[in-house]
Amino acid sequence: MTRDRDVQAFEDRAAGYETGYRGRLHDEIVTRTVDLALARCPAPDRVLDVGCGTGLLLRELARRLPAATALTGVDAASGMVSQARARAGDPRLNFVPGPAERLPFGDAAFDLVISTTSFDHWADQRAGLAECRRVLAPGGLFVLTDVCSAWLLPTLVGTRGNRARTPLRATKLLAAAGFRSVTWHRLYAVIIRTVTARPA
Ligand SMILES: C[S@@+](CC[C@H](N)C(=O)[O-])C[C@H]1O[C@@H](n2cnc3c(N)ncnc32)[C@H](O)[C@@H]1O
Repeated sequence: MTRDRDVQAFEDRAAGYETGYRGRLHDEIVTRTVDLALARCPAPDRVLDVGCGTGLLLRELARRLPAATALTGVDAASGMVSQARARAGDPRLNFVPGPAERLPFGDAAFDLVISTTSFDHWADQRAGLAECRRVLAPGGLFVLTDVCSAWLLPTLVGTRGNRARTPLRATKLLAAAGFRSVTWHRLYAVIIRTVTARPA
């Protein structure tokens, strides 16, 4: 089940998502995440971006991966998927609606599964990570960027109390989902980190 309120907020923001200060911030986070991913997985053939938004990250990957055959994005907000399709401009890019918790793809379908600033919005983070693991091919790489820091402990109150916003909590969920080689990287400021992991 998706966190409907969060998804609705992105439906409302879809048309202007890439503009202004927040648009530039997302662009910077995407670029840094792509740099980090390609340093560890230089030539993935099939890529999945979970919570792809307007497709910023996959457009960047399409530019940098001329030999990749399929770059697929999935997002729970249909407005984001429409924006991503309208901006695609590369036949290898494909955007589909769907929640992280029930990915509409077969097992082991991707060499690189990547996600930026979406994980914190997933209603069921445990189920979403298990799905990312399921669709990742043996030897593939999982790359997840989001707010994650011990500094965020004070935010874990009320309705957000169950969020995996600390490396400790997220590492436990990753292990439960069947990931190994879990490695944390600082990505942006002190609270935005990337975690890389391999299927166990
Ligand atoms: C902050 S935006 C990030 C978009 C894009 N990854 C980027 O970096 O520009 C968060 C995205 O996650 C999506 N999202 C939220 N919950 C989701 C879920 N359960 N499954 C899939 N996508 C989800 C939202 O619709 C939104 O497009």
